[in-house]
Amino acid sequence: MIHINNLSYRYTGGTLALDSVNMSINKGEFVALIGKNGCGKTTLVRHLNALLIPTDGSVSVFGMDTKDTPKVWNIRQAVGMVFQNPQNQFVGTTLEEDVAFGPENLALPQNEIRKRVDMALREVGLLEYKTRAPKTLSGGQMQRAAIAGVLAMEPECIVFDEVTSMLDPESRKMILDTIRQLHHNGKTIIYVTQRIGEILPFAGRIISMDNGRIEFMGTPREYLASVKSHVPAITSLMRKLKAKGFDVRDDVFAVDDAFLEITKACMKGYEEERNTDNG
Ligand SMILES: Nc1ncnc2c1ncn2[C@@H]1O[C@H](COP(=O)(O)OP(=O)(O)O)[C@@H](O)[C@H]1O
Ligand SMILES: [Mg+2]
Repeated sequence: MIHINNLSYRYTGGTLALDSVNMSINKGEFVALIGKNGCGKTTLVRHLNALLIPTDGSVSVFGMDTKDTPKVWNIRQAVGMVFQNPQNQFVGTTLEEDVAFGPENLALPQNEIRKRVDMALREVGLLEYKTRAPKTLSGGQMQRAAIAGVLAMEPECIVFDEVTSMLDPESRKMILDTIRQLHHNGKTIIYVTQRIGEILPFAGRIISMDNGRIEFMGTPREYLASVKSHVPAITSLMRKLKAKGFDVRDDVFAVDDAFLEITKACMKGYEEERNTDNG
């Protein structure tokens, strides 16, 4: 569905931000794109909806080449983007007006627009806020409103570029729940983050970048097996427990799995103690 072929990109007079990147993204995937600040994540995802055009190589979205100027609006409709800073994305005076902006540009009939706006706001849990001014919303609500604006375009694929980085843990969790639900409902998700821990339990595939290149591509478990440092806090805790002699797996990254491992280790310890007492 998305094919990136030998993509290189150089900012005018500046750095080579992407260096021969190759990847494909399939329909229905949940891909996490990770890597340090400045490694090229944003530059890469901006190519997916023709906000940037390759210096070298090509990007194809549903068979449309992003260099093909007349296709740009079809491409932008197919691949929606949500960015870090939702304040910069609002155009309407009320939430519903704002969410309607995209579909209005598609020149859809009024009743279809209403339907899409309600559907999108319901999906992010903001339907009852539809007459509110966007600027009166909390940071987390603004970010969900921005997601609704993208959903109203009915894209096949949504890119989230560090959308939780400015949010408190509770709002972050709500956004992640919303995104998981969208994936469950069939959307293709590309989730960009520097917080590997928040996404490992949900992503089907991890793509890690370094200095404009892809350095790793694989499942979350393969990713953990390949890295020594920068593991999620939960994994780090399990590694410490194992080093202390606890019988736990040290390749888990979801809190639930860690809980299970620790419970099993405790049960085992209890059984052993009882056997010793009896013997
Ligand atoms: N508008 C720009 N003009 C020039 N250089 C840029 C611009 N945006 C990003 N860069 C440079 O491109 C590289 C990749 O940046 P970016 O894609 O934003 O990385 P990330 O999203 O992973 O933090 C960095 O070296 C950054 O300084
Ligand atoms: Mg970025």
